[in-house]
Amino acid sequence: MSQSDPSKIFSRIAGTGGYLPERVMTNKDLEKIVETDDQWIRDRTGIEQRHISADSQTTSDLAYEAAILALEMANVKAEDLDLIVVATTTPDKIFPSTATILQQKLGNRGAPAFDVQAVCTGFVYGLSVADQFVKTGMAKKVLVVGAETLSRITNWTDRNTCVLFGDGAGAVVLESSTEAGILSTHIHADGQYEDLLHVPSGPSKVAQTDDIAERTMNMKGNEVFKVAVNTLSRIASETLEANNITKEDLDWLVPHQANLRIINATAKKLSLGADQTVVTVNRHANTSSASVPLALNEAVRDGRIQRGQLLLLEAFGGGFTWGSALIKF
Ligand code: COA
Repeated sequence: MSQSDPSKIFSRIAGTGGYLPERVMTNKDLEKIVETDDQWIRDRTGIEQRHISADSQTTSDLAYEAAILALEMANVKAEDLDLIVVATTTPDKIFPSTATILQQKLGNRGAPAFDVQAVCTGFVYGLSVADQFVKTGMAKKVLVVGAETLSRITNWTDRNTCVLFGDGAGAVVLESSTEAGILSTHIHADGQYEDLLHVPSGPSKVAQTDDIAERTMNMKGNEVFKVAVNTLSRIASETLEANNITKEDLDWLVPHQANLRIINATAKKLSLGADQTVVTVNRHANTSSASVPLALNEAVRDGRIQRGQLLLLEAFGGGFTWGSALIKF
């Protein structure tokens, strides 16, 4: 694993940003909407509260706030970006892409801008795509955002799902560098699990009834849980082996924030303690593609993650999709 290699181009994280909508919905608030209780939610998921967008806020609004902070930290002007990638499952419109709407808000013109849809693995997919552009010299300054207004596709009468999700956005600015940054990314999918976690209808598969369940998230939680734990353990091993390192070399696990029990199972497998695992699920709930960059941003900004440290990012989501990134920060 080289630290600095003039013959090689790396993508280096130059800045991070995050944004959470102002409105906080606690578990106690949910008790008033569905038959649930604070203790059940805490025990099964680790979630205590989530942020919910205002009616007027769209995914690109959230993405914009996170992007501005990442650009500021990186000291990069929006007009100098030569690629914008937005990972989202909840785009503002069917088209144009949320990435081009964000581009307009940022004042960038001409850079390629597109969305990536891999549900909760979206940010890791976006990072992987952006990394290929940088490594091949196609782009030098890239904005990658994970942003979601999941509250818009949540069935607020279904206690099996509505307690689990929240809204938010996280962003990174990548810069081309001869110093090590993203060391490897690993992305996968297996479409046979479509029906375990999905929204049954969409623009092409039109809803056949007025039932709200057709237009919101449906999940077989128990089955998703089992596959998630096994898959995340496999992707961690795959990443370590590909880089010829051991779990002892890792400084931080920055996992997808779906459920504290899933996070703890992955951390245990990697022998990483609570002091090496970034946890935001208690305050953010599952923000899908925003969850990993939000967690990363939080630990970078509060000084836990330091330059030169080795980070393992991982995620799992609908599809199923899953992925990881090993990063020298
Ligand atoms: N409040 C109170 N009770 C609830 C509830 C809620 N919000 N949601 C479900 N229950 C009930 C169920 O109805 C069930 O009752 P029953 O035994 O009388 O039928 C009971 O709690 C247990 O349900 P079960 O689904 O077996 O619980 P679980 O331990 O698997 O926990 C999840 C449920 C959803 C928290 C868990 O399966 C999970 O986190 N799965 C993964 C979800 C995920 O990460 N998705 C995103 C992946 S990106």
